[in-house]
Amino acid sequence: MKVLVVGSGGREHAICWKLAQSPKVTELYCAPGNGGIAQVAKCVDVKATDVEGMVKWAKDNAMDFVVVAPDDPLAMGMVDALEDAGVPAFGPRKNAAIVEASKAFSKELMKKYHIPTAKYQTFTELAAALDYIDKQGAPIVVKADGLALGKGVTVAATEDEAKLAAAEAMGGRKFGDAGSTLVIEECMTGPEVTVLAFVDGEHVSPMPASQDHKRAYTGNKGPNTGGMGAISPPPQYTPEIAKRCMDEIFLPTVAALKAEGRPFKGVLYFGLMLTPDGPKVVEYNARFGDPECQAVLSLLDSDLLDIMLACREGALDRLDIRWKNEAACCLVLASGGYPLEYKKGYPISGLEEAGQTATVFHAGTKLENGRYLTSGGRVLGVTAIAPTLDEAIEGAYAAGAHISFEDMHYRTDIGHAF
Ligand code: AMP
Ligand code: GLY
Repeated sequence: MKVLVVGSGGREHAICWKLAQSPKVTELYCAPGNGGIAQVAKCVDVKATDVEGMVKWAKDNAMDFVVVAPDDPLAMGMVDALEDAGVPAFGPRKNAAIVEASKAFSKELMKKYHIPTAKYQTFTELAAALDYIDKQGAPIVVKADGLALGKGVTVAATEDEAKLAAAEAMGGRKFGDAGSTLVIEECMTGPEVTVLAFVDGEHVSPMPASQDHKRAYTGNKGPNTGGMGAISPPPQYTPEIAKRCMDEIFLPTVAALKAEGRPFKGVLYFGLMLTPDGPKVVEYNARFGDPECQAVLSLLDSDLLDIMLACREGALDRLDIRWKNEAACCLVLASGGYPLEYKKGYPISGLEEAGQTATVFHAGTKLENGRYLTSGGRVLGVTAIAPTLDEAIEGAYAAGAHISFEDMHYRTDIGHAF
């Protein structure tokens, strides 16, 4: 089969790396891809958000299957456009991708179907939002409704901080239209875990749990990022908690979306908080997480293409998905200054040495005259697997130690931060 993957980050490199191992994949393309992805797929110069351009390229080049990995094209309806043009595609349609595109929608869904999550209210008027913050008190969490590049959430320790966040989003339009509706919710406590699940509209097959490290600096300090590293599985996610999550969260969510006429097919991301009152949903995403994907797919033994096709066909229950009984750690090497200001274009050394003992997924690199250069905030995801989590963490750091580029920044506590 000729397969096209849409996207250009470390997540897409991991997806391409795994799909390239499938004997059924005869040609693999990635749009737009990056320097490292070019090792396993042919990169195509179409932007991930160019829905029309992507459909045209896929048709003109007779793609048999297109995997849409990032949030934006999913929210824009790229899967709908591809399927409507006769190109089979992996990922939720627009009406199901809304679980990520609108927090207000997701909160409403959870309330209606009694899925455990933080108590909340939705606001479209600033005065009412400020009044609510006064009544509830701090700590409290203020969230922009729409997609805001992961920056739309303020966990406010004081009422003043919460009010400022609300005013900036609504009055100041800090996040544009994404912030014209706000969700204000109760502050939960407890370790956070991610569970990615394959979903075929009806059946759910959870992958091994994982844990992201969102803050930029060691010790969970600094600004929020896309994710500075991930482990799988996190020790806090016990079999008892997994069973509760399946019964109280995963199955009810998929059933709720089906009942609402929005069947979800693709990867559903459950952002969970293990609170003293039990597991609760922090957020849904409509796709693999990045860098969780790099850690979790490293543990997959089965053919990823088979699983993705089964998700599309509603046949997940007939598939036996096998995972390695091991642990994984993905260490992100980033450009100094990320997620704020950073420079690009620095040569990267040590990739080959690191690749001897770990898989190095490229997030922001380009290949120029035979050399890899940095070209993004998150540059590489050094991913190791081992029989135990401690060994996997050690393996990722040992491999990462071979790599260097100017201003390289990474956290020293991946796997030990919670
Ligand atoms: P989100 O974009 O909804 O995942 O939120 C970003 C981060 O904010 C999460 O990963 C949590 O660490 C934190 N967060 C979001 N909602 C809450 C909440 N209700 N209580 C405590 N922390 C939260
Ligand atoms: N790593 C968090 C996310 O992909 O949303």
